[in-house]
Amino acid sequence: MSRDIRVEDLSLEEKVQLLVGASWHLRRIHGTAGETRPVRGLPMVAMADGPSGIRIEPNPIRRWPATAFPVPIMLASTWNPELVEAVGRAMGEEARDYGIGVFLAPGINIHRHPLCGRNFEYFSEDPLLAGKIAVAYVKGVQSVGVAATPKHFAANEQETNRTTVDTIVDERTLREIYLKPFEIVVKEAKPWAIMSSYNKLNGKYTSQNEWLLTKVLREEWGFDGIVMSDWGAGDNPIEQVKAGNDLIMPGSDEIVSRLIEAVKRGELSEDYVNRSAARVLEFIKRTPAYKGYKPTNAPNLKEHSKLAYEAAAEGVVLLKNNNEALPLNTNAKVALFGTGQIETNRGGLGSGHTHPRYFINILDGLRNGGLRVDEELSSIYVNYVKENRGEDYLCALYYEEAYSEPLPQDVVSEEQVRKYAERNDAAVVVISRNSGEGWDRRAIKGDYYLTDSERRLIEVVSKQFHALGRRVIVVLNVPSPIEVVSWRDLVDAIILVWLPGQEAGRVVADVLTGRINPSGKLPTTFPRDWSDVPAAKAVECYPGTPPDNPKVVKYCEGVYVGYRYYDKYGIEPAYEFGFGLSYTRFEYRNLRVTIDDSVKVSFDVINVGKYPGKEIAQVYVKAPQGSLDKPVQELKAFKKTRLLNPGEVDHIELTINIKELASFNDAKRLWIVDKGEYEVRVGASSRDIRLTSKFTLNNEISFKP
Ligand code: BGC
Repeated sequence: MSRDIRVEDLSLEEKVQLLVGASWHLRRIHGTAGETRPVRGLPMVAMADGPSGIRIEPNPIRRWPATAFPVPIMLASTWNPELVEAVGRAMGEEARDYGIGVFLAPGINIHRHPLCGRNFEYFSEDPLLAGKIAVAYVKGVQSVGVAATPKHFAANEQETNRTTVDTIVDERTLREIYLKPFEIVVKEAKPWAIMSSYNKLNGKYTSQNEWLLTKVLREEWGFDGIVMSDWGAGDNPIEQVKAGNDLIMPGSDEIVSRLIEAVKRGELSEDYVNRSAARVLEFIKRTPAYKGYKPTNAPNLKEHSKLAYEAAAEGVVLLKNNNEALPLNTNAKVALFGTGQIETNRGGLGSGHTHPRYFINILDGLRNGGLRVDEELSSIYVNYVKENRGEDYLCALYYEEAYSEPLPQDVVSEEQVRKYAERNDAAVVVISRNSGEGWDRRAIKGDYYLTDSERRLIEVVSKQFHALGRRVIVVLNVPSPIEVVSWRDLVDAIILVWLPGQEAGRVVADVLTGRINPSGKLPTTFPRDWSDVPAAKAVECYPGTPPDNPKVVKYCEGVYVGYRYYDKYGIEPAYEFGFGLSYTRFEYRNLRVTIDDSVKVSFDVINVGKYPGKEIAQVYVKAPQGSLDKPVQELKAFKKTRLLNPGEVDHIELTINIKELASFNDAKRLWIVDKGEYEVRVGASSRDIRLTSKFTLNNEISFKP
């Protein structure tokens, strides 16, 4: 192998080979997504998905399981960058140890609409939270010498017609919301790669969009890695190379020939080929394969399973807990309802899927966690699942990547429920949903809404258990928000566990019994109804027009995405951005705000309740109304406290760079920080502001992008 190979030494054919992946067919590691080509003895660098863990297929002979971590929406619910960095490192180690040099993650598109099928793979509706969690994730992965690939750049917020739809979005909205997480991650974590998206942006495929890939990404932000296309994206490889999409994935011999011909015919300047070939060459030289790392095929799965537990434990969001219904006694008798206790969804479908070494569903988690599960009741559900999904349903739980509609939940009669209420301390009802790549969720019963049988189950269980003074708890095992307002008053507590990875059941059991005190908060709003979201105002805004086969989608709501919209227009959400309860209570005191070349914010968080716990403190800033219309407030900093015992205080100090207060003025093409009075709002959620203070900027500040 030629160690010091330089672009100048390569023929045109060889250089073009560097720009095109080795195709679907040449995957040496089962289940990986693609590889680079072996030019001049360079190693083929393998690439694997995806955001919740390494996606490779376990081989029956040489087993290659990978840890199923909680899905990214749950990682973001931890609001804990240190923990996410540790998860990233573990995923990076697994990639490296299985011979993979490029990890196709994290996904950092914005939660624009609750029905986007890949929201579970993305972090947040807020660009700062998404960006900061992405920074931690990328640093973790790359700390072990494996490339991270933030994706999908950019404006890919729906799955409907994702490979062709043209996303129309104004520059201010793009820069403040949709590009922002990418800008943060590029500047703060220096990813080695970025994946462009499938869609068009304002008329051009993103992978063929020079403004996006060269002007913004490289010239403005200083990106120095490679851009790779999403798999099969775009319609013109020549335009891709010109735009600065360095690597075309998964690639084919036909694309190689087409590019060589284009250079020979003068349609593509060889300078473009040289530019991207140099970048891909440098990229390959950074990877473990080039550096001679011998894959062990034996990552430390045992250690990583502890981390999968810890990450899920911190990402659980307690949405409701009336009269301290939770935690339960550690040996409480529990009646477990719903097929989701068996068919617990650990992760999402599509490229975000993982094949772990083991998986603990909710039923087994509760059994092992000391709770006394009503076995007669659960056996009814076990048999029902077997009958409907087949005897080998357990096997399917491990390997299945296909979507299954939720089973009808009329499994037990009201008389039976009464019997279980008499002999148990509490009812736990599991509601499960899943979603995946390639299609959006649906605003129908069985997806965004409860099915009739799920609703009846919650009604009957609540009636019978409450008649005897027993509590009713709902566990939401869902990839993104569902409708809750029409049924939440019936139950005492709601635990949101998202798709929690391989440790699902253990985490649910430990939350129920208080071994875990929930400390996650929502990275995305739960609207009262999906139709409240601003993107739902007209079909042209989502999923686009014509409605039966959208070609164009307009981001009509501008910067008013998520809480920016609900706050501005006074719309009550079901659970607001940043919301999450704890078994303990926290108070906020002693806010101090000072300003010199940055804004320094300090305050104390005190645990005034009965249990040890962690709090996520959020700092929002309300800007003066200057030349641009602005959101009421925007998240500018956050901090999760350490574990605080009752009575303990954490002193928090945060810094906000003044440039981060800027809005983008389209007309002037400048970022502008207005002069005037700013309000610093410190709170436990976007709507639970505990302390405020003000500062004044005497002069306007403006700067170029
Ligand atoms: C997905 C990407 C993924 C790639 C490779 C595409 O369909 O959009 O997120 O990384 O496939 O599996």
